[in-house]
Amino acid sequence: MRLFDGMTVENGELNISGVGVSELKAQYGTPLYVYDENMLVNQCRTFINNFKSSRFSTEVLFASKAFSCLEVLRIANREGLGVDVVSLGEIHTAYKAGYDMRRAYFHGNNKTREELQYALEVGVGTIVIDNNYEYEMINKIVRESGNTVDVLLRINTGIDAHTHEYIKTAKDDSKFGYSVYDETIYDLIADINNQSNLNFVGFHSHIGSQIFEKTSFFEAVKVVMEFTRRVQERLGLTISVLNLGGGFGVYYTEEDRPFELAEFLREYIEVVERESDNFGLDLTKVVIEPGRSLTCNAGSTLYSVGGVKKTFAGREYVFVDGGMADNPRYALYKAKYEAMLANKMNEEADATYTVAGKCCESGDMLVMDAKLPRAEQGDLLLVSSTGAYNYSMSSNYNRLPKLPVVFVKDGTSRLVVKGETLEDLIRQDI
Ligand code: LLP
Repeated sequence: MRLFDGMTVENGELNISGVGVSELKAQYGTPLYVYDENMLVNQCRTFINNFKSSRFSTEVLFASKAFSCLEVLRIANREGLGVDVVSLGEIHTAYKAGYDMRRAYFHGNNKTREELQYALEVGVGTIVIDNNYEYEMINKIVRESGNTVDVLLRINTGIDAHTHEYIKTAKDDSKFGYSVYDETIYDLIADINNQSNLNFVGFHSHIGSQIFEKTSFFEAVKVVMEFTRRVQERLGLTISVLNLGGGFGVYYTEEDRPFELAEFLREYIEVVERESDNFGLDLTKVVIEPGRSLTCNAGSTLYSVGGVKKTFAGREYVFVDGGMADNPRYALYKAKYEAMLANKMNEEADATYTVAGKCCESGDMLVMDAKLPRAEQGDLLLVSSTGAYNYSMSSNYNRLPKLPVVFVKDGTSRLVVKGETLEDLIRQDI
């Protein structure tokens, strides 16, 4: 069980950035998402300070699918990150957070007319084209609007990164992007490049998520750059921008071995510079777009323990007041987490429990075989590293209201997303 920067223990109780968990419960109730704001800011700075080159400009985008709400986007914006958006809702949230939308990249494999029109209306700077169908539509809508927009083409490098099947994105039969091995891609690029309203600047590639092997990223750089050179030679054009995606693996449990981020980013830049020389490229900008690695470890979910139950077969369950509605990642990916009894931090963790939620579904688990002190009703249970893809993938299953989100910083806490009320749950019902 790992205590992250900013987590301390005072009189047996877990504090996050100087705020005790019992105080958080008293003020906001449980279940609750809690983020350490200093950690969020530090992660942004680690990316910005280390992913930079004297040879070309660099841009770090926040992949807002990991955790999109106004306040986190205000922070990312203030810290100098651009933003990756994939839907009307993500565009709207970034726009309302005050983002300079020229720094927004609009991704997705099936953008709708409505989304594209809104993107142009709010001034999204770059649209990332996924396929021919999209290209036709984007071209038409941009022409109708009379605007010009920068476009990237999403390419698929076929790199098989070692991660969960559902979060790999660059295998040859993945739904994302256009394969660099498909000969028809050159005609498509030539066509895009000929459109006066589309300013074709380069390529985007993202090979998957929660990847620990540096070599997967470095290999992808090579394939992308080799392809870029081929395109330049065959079509006689100059590619100036490469967006290399996100996917940097983070710690959830001791089984995960993430690389040291700052060091990796510096090495990554070196690889990009070297390969760009090898392939004779003249890039003006290189972009990356982390999501999970920016927000995951900064966030935790605080629950209250209800029942503790031993089954006839011998398994001991700790039931908490949330579950798969606020964290569907075990149900979806068998994702592993660490848990702690946040009010019993000095007690020996000599019991083994399965932490389960309150939803009517057997798969509603949060942590299998968690080592905890003896648990009882009223204990506070904290699951760490829930800061990415938890709030954003949460649901109202069993009509559970979505949780509030609180940011803590140096002894103070503030609500940044209100929890849903019962009235919110039926607001759209007719
Ligand atoms: N860029 C693109 C185009 C992406 O599709 C993604 C993630 C990212 C950047 C950010 O990747 P990250 O740095 O967060 O790994 N729901 C899954 C994760 C899906 C990731 C989808 N794309 C989960 O809970 O693990």
